[in-house]
Amino acid sequence: MTVIDWNYVAAHIRPRQPESDKNTYGRVLAICGCRDYIGAPYFAAQAAVRTGSGIVTLAVPQCIYPILAGKLNEPTFLPLEADENGKITADCLPPLARRAAILAGPGLGISEGVAQAVQTIIREAECPIIVDADGINVLAGHIHVLEEARYPVILTPHAREFSRICDIPCTGIPERDAAAFAQKHHCVLLLKGHRTVVAGPDGTVLQNVHGNPGMAKGGSGDVLSGIILSLLGQGVPPLAAAACGAYIHSRAGDLCANEIGEFGMTPTDMLSRIPQVLKPLN
Ligand code: APR
Ligand code: MG
Repeated sequence: MTVIDWNYVAAHIRPRQPESDKNTYGRVLAICGCRDYIGAPYFAAQAAVRTGSGIVTLAVPQCIYPILAGKLNEPTFLPLEADENGKITADCLPPLARRAAILAGPGLGISEGVAQAVQTIIREAECPIIVDADGINVLAGHIHVLEEARYPVILTPHAREFSRICDIPCTGIPERDAAAFAQKHHCVLLLKGHRTVVAGPDGTVLQNVHGNPGMAKGGSGDVLSGIILSLLGQGVPPLAAAACGAYIHSRAGDLCANEIGEFGMTPTDMLSRIPQVLKPLN
């Protein structure tokens, strides 16, 4: 099992090019949030901005759009007609075409409408996609939809989310279970924990050995999925995007821990350290 290090990251992320514009760095779409979860879309979108995306578009239920628009300066917005509980449905999805990458899941909540919406995104996306958090939870019992995806899919569960969707006999050994799942479903599986593992459809398994318990706070995972969204949109191949994302996220967490300590560091603090982690690339 390969340990993800800085050399791996530097080998997979292209430096910024002098002759470039925002289109060079990807127009990415994040479909996140519901009436009850407003932080998740904030963290995911801001992480994508901080990781270097050209344009980040945030599609969120109409009812939380004004709050997020007041907090986020860089993303563009697509307010969605949600259901009476402020959750998205398959009928209210934004256009999926002409995106460099799509993230679905953080803070969507759980409902039949969300389940249908996430399956529609997996079937109809015309670009690589990352599915996280409630996007994973609603795939319980529907995991076969992955066979209908036309582009690579990355799933980023923590252990509980993984146990909900896992349809293989589990050994409890993260690298084995992640590898078996990724091979069976032809996806990239990033299994989060204090040591995150990343498995590809070809049997490759990588491990991240950085990060700290200060990162064990709500919203930390949403930062990770935003980083991976951005890397996918910049053209980093799916397995490398997930592995580089885990490394960058954990190093941002370690900078926070060193500077302000594990107790009080927040996912918001991690957002502000992503640029320092990436700075040596240029
Ligand atoms: N050491 C290193 N890294 C850690 C540690 C630790 N001790 N604890 C957590 N992390 C990292 C994980 O590797 C992962 O990248 O922090 C992140 C936590 O992500 P999630 O488990 O997805 O947590 P988060 O998304 O912030 O939780 C908010 O979203 O996914 C749902 O069910 C989840 O309700 C929860 C909500
Ligand atoms: Mg999470």
